[in-house]
Amino acid sequence: MIRRIGILTSGGDSPGMNAAIRAVTRTALSNGIEVVGIKDGYRGLYEGNFMSMKKTDVSDILDRGGTKLGSARLKEFKDVKVQEKCVENLKKSGIDAIVVIGGDGSYRGALALTKLGINCIGLPGTIDNDIPGTDYTIGFDTALNTVVEAVDKLRDTSSSHHRCSVVEVMGNHCGDLALWAGISCGAEIVVTPETGYDEVEILEKLMYLDRNVNKNHAIVIISEKMTHVEDLANKISNHTGFSGRATVLGHIQRGGSPTPFDRVLASRMGEKAVDLLMAGVGGHCVGILENKIISMPIEEALSTLKTSRKQLYRLFDRLV
Ligand code: F6P
Repeated sequence: MIRRIGILTSGGDSPGMNAAIRAVTRTALSNGIEVVGIKDGYRGLYEGNFMSMKKTDVSDILDRGGTKLGSARLKEFKDVKVQEKCVENLKKSGIDAIVVIGGDGSYRGALALTKLGINCIGLPGTIDNDIPGTDYTIGFDTALNTVVEAVDKLRDTSSSHHRCSVVEVMGNHCGDLALWAGISCGAEIVVTPETGYDEVEILEKLMYLDRNVNKNHAIVIISEKMTHVEDLANKISNHTGFSGRATVLGHIQRGGSPTPFDRVLASRMGEKAVDLLMAGVGGHCVGILENKIISMPIEEALSTLKTSRKQLYRLFDRLV
């Protein structure tokens, strides 16, 4: 039986993390389990930076972006000695189990702690939608809305000036934000780690759109880390009939009030995490598959490939 659980957020923050903190806290408290907030991810765990959480400590955070608990990336956590110190801190504070909200790196940490005797449950908190074992991560929908709002605005000004907007979006090594935004905004070109980067093909396509389709603007949505977008915009100006302009959306994509979709997703996942811990489960992560909240061993999730996006890429190509 568990009496006290800890909760932490780790890695890049994402909108909806607060909703998950609230759901975990309130589900646990309503089952007579005490909750301890761990500040700044695994760093706070290592330094013993804990705070007791009452019901009102999670009031007024459901609609707030960021994470009330703070987040960090602690490279040193890979070191077993660091992990052992964390377990010692947890035991000293009477914490029996933890919920970890973050990306795949955070999941690996949760798995390591579970192996050292502290049951952990991982919740997928990242805007990247790059975690296997779930159709959606907490924060992806909000970030997508931010991107769509920005691209819609860029389209207005691009079409007034016969320009091509090259918009760089986040996603780490995953093209979901770019692909979903491309479909949502009717972009002309989407470039992601899955499509690869072919500059000649991009320029030829834009030339064709300018000359043969008589387009008065074009939008290229490109995942981060694919190329230098300013260079690409200059090449577009030099080689096509469009004047190229680059916009890097950057960290703005990580902020903002979570969408209702993310709030509900985070709440459902938070509830599930506590249910699992009460059932004595550890080393699992929670996901949503075909609108059902599920859980699976973290090891299984991390060794699974993300569902193929082939059909969505085909849809994008058909609609251009
Ligand atoms: O994983 C979330 C994410 O925002 C990625 O999309 C991006 O590559 C990275 O984090 C940026 O990290 P940082 O906040 O450390 O600049």
